[in-house]
Amino acid sequence: MIADLSPSDRSKYACALHASKLVESGMKVGLGTGSTAYWLVHHLAERVRNEDLKFVGVPTSTRTRDQAHAEGIRLISMDDAGRLDITIDGADEFDQSMSLIKGGGGAHLQEKIVAFGSDLMVVIADESKKVEKLGRFPLPVEVLKFGSASSQMKIEELLIARKFKDFDVKMRMKDEKPFITDEGNFIFDLKLNEIEDPIGLCGDLNIIPGVVENGLFIDVCSAVIVGHSDGTAEISWKKDIA
Ligand code: A5P
Repeated sequence: MIADLSPSDRSKYACALHASKLVESGMKVGLGTGSTAYWLVHHLAERVRNEDLKFVGVPTSTRTRDQAHAEGIRLISMDDAGRLDITIDGADEFDQSMSLIKGGGGAHLQEKIVAFGSDLMVVIADESKKVEKLGRFPLPVEVLKFGSASSQMKIEELLIARKFKDFDVKMRMKDEKPFITDEGNFIFDLKLNEIEDPIGLCGDLNIIPGVVENGLFIDVCSAVIVGHSDGTAEISWKKDIA
């Protein structure tokens, strides 16, 4: 099957396959969102069918919930799950210290809650997601609909105060209408180019009234599995590079 995929999908297939083997019977597993996490759900469902793997999943979006449900994976809510054993998710960018930008698919709010509620968070990605410095990918910031123009103004003031040059803050659109998240909120995508201080920016964004969550994931990812188009994948652990 992998031979029929595009090079990009082969990489995603490969890292997701590697990650699916980290799941053991009895585990509570956070299931990420996106085109890489799609393959994770696919591989886990195959293990449920072929190897009698018994685990419960906590999906991070309606998309993942619908796919996992259709593939026969047993799902529970985050509240019923309590602490999770592992979360496996994609990323839009990761750096050397395994800090991430997520939310390209608009699901970073649930993804962050699930990731921080897990003993282990593993990112699956192809090589193109690795960066020297975070920020090439626009940073998603989820905001309440109420007063979103005021939240946007405050975000822009923060970026000026933090000396970002040539930044751009754009409301995410879909079919010519504002994109609406699973929680009914808007997303602003922040074109920043380079983020010098991800920890500081993450904290400052989240104290702006109306901001619900931003897509910076700091100090939560324990390992990254990088997939390649030749079908291979390898895992790097944060503890080994720290
Ligand atoms: C979803 O909101 C995102 O955080 C995704 O996990 C991230 O965008 C990676 O997606 P892809 O695997 O589709 O690149």
